Amino acid sequence: MRKVTLYIAQSEDGFIADESGSVDFLNPMHVEGEDYGYRAFLEGIDSVVVGRKTYQSVLDMGYDYPHTECEVVVFTRTPRPQAGNLTFHGGSPAERVRAMKAEPHRKGIYCEGGAEIAHQLLAAGLVDEIILSIAPTKLGRGTVLFAEGRAPEGWVERSRQRYDSGLIQVRLSLA
Ligand SMILES: NC(=O)c1ccc[n+]([C@@H]2O[C@H](COP(=O)([O-])OP(=O)(O)OC[C@H]3O[C@@H](n4cnc5c(N)ncnc54)[C@H](OP(=O)(O)O)[C@@H]3O)[C@@H](O)[C@H]2O)c1
Repeated sequence: MRKVTLYIAQSEDGFIADESGSVDFLNPMHVEGEDYGYRAFLEGIDSVVVGRKTYQSVLDMGYDYPHTECEVVVFTRTPRPQAGNLTFHGGSPAERVRAMKAEPHRKGIYCEGGAEIAHQLLAAGLVDEIILSIAPTKLGRGTVLFAEGRAPEGWVERSRQRYDSGLIQVRLSLA
């Protein structure tokens, strides 16, 4: 079975975006020559699954959506035609990811978020690993990933790495 990894960043108090949907709180973490293992992680995946709001937030920042070498599935209740490597899927995210997991001879699946999609995949037991980067900032409000910033019950911390920027990266898997 292909591994599904939720790779995501949050504030110290558990928010993945501020009230306006911005991830500017991560800007101080962008340090020359430090990618927090992201490139190495990307080498192990060939599919990305993402909620429409997260997908749109990338475009709204003025970027093209990355991961052009991967199959990208954007979940939306208003699907539109496939565009290159992008599929806009209107059905259940859990059912789609369950089917993707069973595809043979494929690399891992990157769940980019946001919180809505992550919650549905976690609830369906489809996430194998969480790589959670925690920025040393409190936002107080915004889009919550986990209540009080803590992973759901049953998830066990396997490693914790502290970077010079102050970012802490925690890897979790199920007990
Ligand atoms: N810090 C980080 O690492 C990080 C990572 C990812 C995202 N973010 C931030 O998180 C925010 C977005 O997260 P979010 O939780 O609000 O939204 P999201 O999970 O990115 O997307 C939610 C959207 O997914 C679609 N969707 C949800 N459930 C569905 C279902 N059962 N069937 C079909 N489509 C479904 C809907 O799209 P439609 O409305 O089109 O129907 C829904 O509005 C953004 O501000 C983004 O910047 C931060």
